[in-house]
Amino acid sequence: MEALTHLFVFYSFLFSLLRTSISLDTITPSQSIRDGGSALVSAGGHFQLGFFSPGNPDRRYVGIWYTVSLDIVVWVANREAPLSDHLGVLKLVDDGVLVLLNSTNGTVWSSRSTTSTTPQNPVAQLLDTGNLAVKDGNDDKPEKFLWQSFDYPCDTQLPEMKLGWNLVTGLDRFISSWKSTEDPAQGEYSVHIDHRGLPQRVNMKGNSTKTRAGSWNGVGFTGHQGLRPNTVFDYEFVLNEKEVYFEFKLFNTSVFTRFVINPTGVAQRFTWNDRKQIWESFFTSEADQCENYGLCGGNATCNINKSPVCACLEGFLPQFQKDWDSADWSDGCVRRTPLECNDTDGFLMRTGLKLPDTSASWYNKSMTLQECKGMCLKNCSCTAYASLNISEGGSGCVLWFGSLIDIREYSEGGQDLHVRMAKSELALLEKQRHSNKKKLVGIIVGSALLVVGMIIVGLVSYIWKKKLKNPGLVLGIQRKDYDNEGGKEDMELAILFDLAVIINATNNFSNNNKLGEGGFGPVYKGTLPEGKDIAVKRLSKNSGQGLNELKNEVILIAKLQHRNLVKLLGCCIQENENMLIYEYMPNKSLDSFIFDQAKSKLLDWHKRLNIIRGIAKGLLYLHEDSRLRIIHRDLKASNILLDNNMNPKISDFGVARSFGGDQIDSETTKIIGTQ
Ligand SMILES: *[C@@H]1O[C@H](CO)[C@@H](O)[C@H](O)[C@H]1NC(C)=O
Ligand SMILES: *[C@@H]1O[C@H](CO)[C@@H](O)[C@H](O)[C@H]1NC(C)=O
Ligand SMILES: *[C@@H]1O[C@H](CO)[C@@H](O)[C@H](O)[C@H]1NC(C)=O
Ligand SMILES: *[C@@H]1O[C@H](CO)[C@@H](O)[C@H](O)[C@H]1NC(C)=O
Ligand SMILES: *[C@@H]1O[C@H](CO)[C@@H](O)[C@H](O)[C@H]1NC(C)=O
Ligand SMILES: *[C@@H]1O[C@H](CO)[C@@H](O)[C@H](O)[C@H]1NC(C)=O
Ligand SMILES: *[C@@H]1O[C@H](CO)[C@@H](O)[C@H](O)[C@H]1NC(C)=O
Ligand SMILES: *[C@@H]1O[C@H](CO)[C@@H](O)[C@H](O)[C@H]1NC(C)=O
Ligand SMILES: *[C@@H]1O[C@H](CO)[C@@H](O)[C@H](O)[C@H]1NC(C)=O
Repeated sequence: MEALTHLFVFYSFLFSLLRTSISLDTITPSQSIRDGGSALVSAGGHFQLGFFSPGNPDRRYVGIWYTVSLDIVVWVANREAPLSDHLGVLKLVDDGVLVLLNSTNGTVWSSRSTTSTTPQNPVAQLLDTGNLAVKDGNDDKPEKFLWQSFDYPCDTQLPEMKLGWNLVTGLDRFISSWKSTEDPAQGEYSVHIDHRGLPQRVNMKGNSTKTRAGSWNGVGFTGHQGLRPNTVFDYEFVLNEKEVYFEFKLFNTSVFTRFVINPTGVAQRFTWNDRKQIWESFFTSEADQCENYGLCGGNATCNINKSPVCACLEGFLPQFQKDWDSADWSDGCVRRTPLECNDTDGFLMRTGLKLPDTSASWYNKSMTLQECKGMCLKNCSCTAYASLNISEGGSGCVLWFGSLIDIREYSEGGQDLHVRMAKSELALLEKQRHSNKKKLVGIIVGSALLVVGMIIVGLVSYIWKKKLKNPGLVLGIQRKDYDNEGGKEDMELAILFDLAVIINATNNFSNNNKLGEGGFGPVYKGTLPEGKDIAVKRLSKNSGQGLNELKNEVILIAKLQHRNLVKLLGCCIQENENMLIYEYMPNKSLDSFIFDQAKSKLLDWHKRLNIIRGIAKGLLYLHEDSRLRIIHRDLKASNILLDNNMNPKISDFGVARSFGGDQIDSETTKIIGTQ
């Protein structure tokens, strides 16, 4: 359906282009643009302006789109008021206002002019930046424009377009999603510069903040690590008495890049690849759990590498311990010790953070950090301070009052935050730290002893291993009465992997290595030092599945060997981590093929039949031939993995259950499996 509409749009564009004989970039009051007639084309040919229908052909809009990619509409004039026929006319009237008239000369849309002066010689010009500007004569300075489409964005921020505020006129430029791909009217999602307190960039759903890139720290947004210096565009955040805005500029204006928020709320940057003729996504920011605004409530931090992700700031305790324990963190944390509210209070410095929401903050761009601290101590409701601008050693001051909301901890980068504490609380924390140090010393001594012990154990097991002629450590499961291979009864079944090896192989469980999320936790791709690819299933600690399921799966799969079952290489049980290590399947799961229009074409009937037969063989083996009777109970396309040659392999035995060899009926007691 979508493909059809795109095709339709494309052809209606082509059609209107064919009928376009003149391609001007300017209209004067004596000229007009009719639906089905002429269109405007910018001087360098980058953009076009004309009439179009994104969905229903009877709903007509005036918009601007790329010449190289006619289906990408970057701006719509009458997004809320479609014309109901093909008789619309776009005109520039004498006082320099653009109007869109319908068949009965009713005004459907007009450009609201910000100036009241009547121009001598108004013209409307489509610029090569994609900006439609109404100017007086040839005055090309943007600040002299009578009106410009860049001041009224739709869902797209183009280079040189300001996102933010003109504080003099009160103009707020923000981008907002279309209602749907067929309706350009303003949808639920938007990206704003919030200029209450220290300005910050926020993504909103309706009136509520969904995610927060945060305040500008002179280098980037405090919580947006994706924005980095690059070869395509440069960016700038301007904050003064007249203006607050964020803008980006191209190094080479023949490159096309756009930042767009789609109808489902995903904000993404795309650049045009001219060779491949496609839009490529640029810097996809990872939308992890900690991105949700205020997930952990007030006075708490979110760390995606920890479990649970939320933790109170030091010196704070959960407001409602029970809720907190059941992973409802929204009520946040409260002070353990109240502030004295005189200058005996001190500050605890935290590093590597995304600074809290600044919408209720105060700032001064020229203060030093010392002055900032003094300023905070003077006001009893001040709860924290930080440097405003972190470049060149830091400058400026931000003060927070009340709750500290939406803080993140990063393992790399991040900023310093000084959190106000009562003197007695600081002393207590200092003591704790001290005793932790003592503990640390204890741990070091302990681990030295442990190392000595391990060397001895290592020697013993080396000798043992020599006897067995088997690599790795033996997990205490033995393959007694099994199976097609026969022969060596004592053969090891699964290797215990060392946590350090797994961390190293998966880049410390980097999000880039994440293959997906199963019912029991995330799955990561890893590469062992010798170059072998593995898939690591990290059983989540709070999923209620624990050692039992792990053992269940290890024992089950280790006992099973079949070409249509995923091979378990081993497991890792260390430091609260329970992980299963499988062979890596480069072609991912079956659902990634059959539910993807492009990829499903790769599966011809021969391959499909092969897959079906493979699954059936695997199941037959599980049900009948393996002597253990195993019922998978969660068989679905996403649990069928495909190897290099598209051979199917059944995976995910964590919920499988083994029946005794002659037991046919059994009742299950737990409802298991996911949709
Ligand atoms: C609309 O305006 C044009 C030009 O001013 C005029 O020629 C035409 O008759 C008008 N149409 C209607 C329906 O009023
Ligand atoms: C044209 O617009 C006017 C004013 O918006 C409206 O009253 C009229 O019904 C419209 N005519 C048509 C044919 O849509
Ligand atoms: C949300 O926005 C709508 C319209 O913009 C407004 O009427 C409503 O009062 C707002 N709600 C809140 C809670 O601010
Ligand atoms: C941050 O500080 C640097 C160096 O002092 C300065 O060049 C830059 O303009 C400052 N940025 C902001 C946003 O104040
Ligand atoms: C800009 O890019 C175009 C096309 O990629 C290239 O032909 C041109 O030389 C580039 N200009 C500069 C100044 O790099
Ligand atoms: C966070 O702490 C401040 C005092 O520092 C307190 O006023 C506020 O209520 C706390 N927030 C929550 C959500 O408990
Ligand atoms: C600060 O306030 C606390 C209690 O409010 C009081 O005991 C203490 O003496 C005060 N210290 C100073 C220096 O005023
Ligand atoms: C900011 O701080 C500087 C230095 O302390 C001071 O001169 C200036 O007046 C302050 N500005 C505002 C707006 O408070
Ligand atoms: C403390 O800061 C709050 C918030 O900015 C402000 O409303 C209050 O007037 C300040 N109090 C003093 C004594 O400066």
